[in-house]
Amino acid sequence: MSEPPAEAPRRGADPRPGIPAEAQGSPQLAAEADSGAAPGPTPAFDFWRAIYERRSIRRFKPDPVPRELVTQVLHAGIWAPSSCNYQMWDFVVVDDPATNARLAALSAQMGNAPVNVIVSYGRDFSEDAWANIQSASAAIENMSLAAHVLGLGTFWITQTGDREQVRAIVGLPEDRLVVAVLAIGYPANPPRAGPKRRPLGHVAHWNHYAGQPIPGSPDPERWDPELLAVYQRARVLNGLRHNKPRAFEVEALERALDLLVPAGREPAADPARAPRWLDVLPCTGIVTERLARLRPGFRFDVVERTREVADFVAGRLRPRAQTCGWPRASGGLPAPPEGAYEVVTCLYRLENLRAVDRARLVAEMARWLAPGGTLLVAFVRRGSYHDLMEWARARRGGLGGVEYVLAPDPSIGPFRSLRADEVEREARAAGLVRSGALGLHAAPPRAELDFRLRNAGRRTRALVRCAAGLARGLEFLPGLRAARGRFQFRAYRRG
Ligand SMILES: Cc1cc2nc3c(=O)[nH]c(=O)nc-3n(C[C@H](O)[C@H](O)[C@H](O)COP(=O)(O)O)c2cc1C
Repeated sequence: MSEPPAEAPRRGADPRPGIPAEAQGSPQLAAEADSGAAPGPTPAFDFWRAIYERRSIRRFKPDPVPRELVTQVLHAGIWAPSSCNYQMWDFVVVDDPATNARLAALSAQMGNAPVNVIVSYGRDFSEDAWANIQSASAAIENMSLAAHVLGLGTFWITQTGDREQVRAIVGLPEDRLVVAVLAIGYPANPPRAGPKRRPLGHVAHWNHYAGQPIPGSPDPERWDPELLAVYQRARVLNGLRHNKPRAFEVEALERALDLLVPAGREPAADPARAPRWLDVLPCTGIVTERLARLRPGFRFDVVERTREVADFVAGRLRPRAQTCGWPRASGGLPAPPEGAYEVVTCLYRLENLRAVDRARLVAEMARWLAPGGTLLVAFVRRGSYHDLMEWARARRGGLGGVEYVLAPDPSIGPFRSLRADEVEREARAAGLVRSGALGLHAAPPRAELDFRLRNAGRRTRALVRCAAGLARGLEFLPGLRAARGRFQFRAYRRG
């Protein structure tokens, strides 16, 4: 840091802006730590509160942050441990709006804070096991906690855009690795509670690991149902990556409903006695919410793997949905009542399941249906352009694994497209009789291509668009969408 703090630390200094009242006038630990020109006064703060109350802040007020506060934050950073105590970190603090604008052009995540700290570490100072990244990360965490104690918010940004460009913009030499950017500012709307953590009992092990391997593979056969439940609960409750279904996905769903579940468009006269609709494994519930808006004549229940996710979805619906548990009644959730539902929907969820669980779920859904009721299943068809997209994604490298499968939103977890005859066979085995079918999107809609190709080169974009345009021209051939459409809908009744 080229700019020294404005003044030497003083004990019992006057209250300063941005420092919580209870933290004023505390001993100058920082000064004592390095007995040099430490910034002060370092406020007292309950250690445990700092740990538990720090939150990632994604929106900041435009107010500038006094440099002396930023300096206190940086000072906490240099007291982090580092591999061999090399301390090969450098922090470039950007509070110049013009430079911040150049950084923001590389990554949308950097557009928002008045201060961005570029955290770098000696590129070659890694003895082993990414010691450079570990050391820089320790400093980032120290700084995040210190900022919180000072009434500031931080956002730890890994998606900085091209790191070499970040390095060049702030003039770091090539021997420095840009590890991350720590955005600092006054929180615009600090979250009241943090996203849930995995329970300690799941992550802490005494003497020997007692958990299960976490598959990185999108192959559902490798996912134990218990583990899938844990993963989905973490993803849903963390709440940050809830994709919204895209317009073409919603449009497909609406067409399927119009054709296969046309009843219930008008609000029920007596909601308490309205026919019941069960949405199966709704994940975030964003689609369930839409179903309830499109078919207000029904009363909605949901069945999920964990109580927390079921409650999360139920809370999105008015009136609040009743919650059930599957594959087993979990956390006190009852199994769905048999024979109770006029409509049961399972939209792009069979693809998440092992074959054995899928067959079991289809059989149970058949039992949850009321006599004459309709089961509506949506699935992504094997052999459609979906598989081609997945293949291209896997080949491209980069972001992959289960987190990035190209499932229709908001599917979370492993995903494998299904052969139509697999679904038909399981439905028949469950005593179901098909009452309707719809296939859509034999070729990718333009919006999907634009989204998938947003990072591709100009040539690839032009080539793929041209091929897709041709395929779209053929889409109207009789039977093609039924045979090759990515989105398949099937309606069944109990035989
Ligand atoms: C290395 C790292 C990278 C992160 N990247 C992002 C990100 O790209 N986008 C985002 O919204 N949050 C990001 N976060 C913040 C996490 O989502 C956040 O820490 C987590 O949800 C827990 O919330 P909390 O920090 O408020 O306790 C990142 C955090 C870390 C440590």
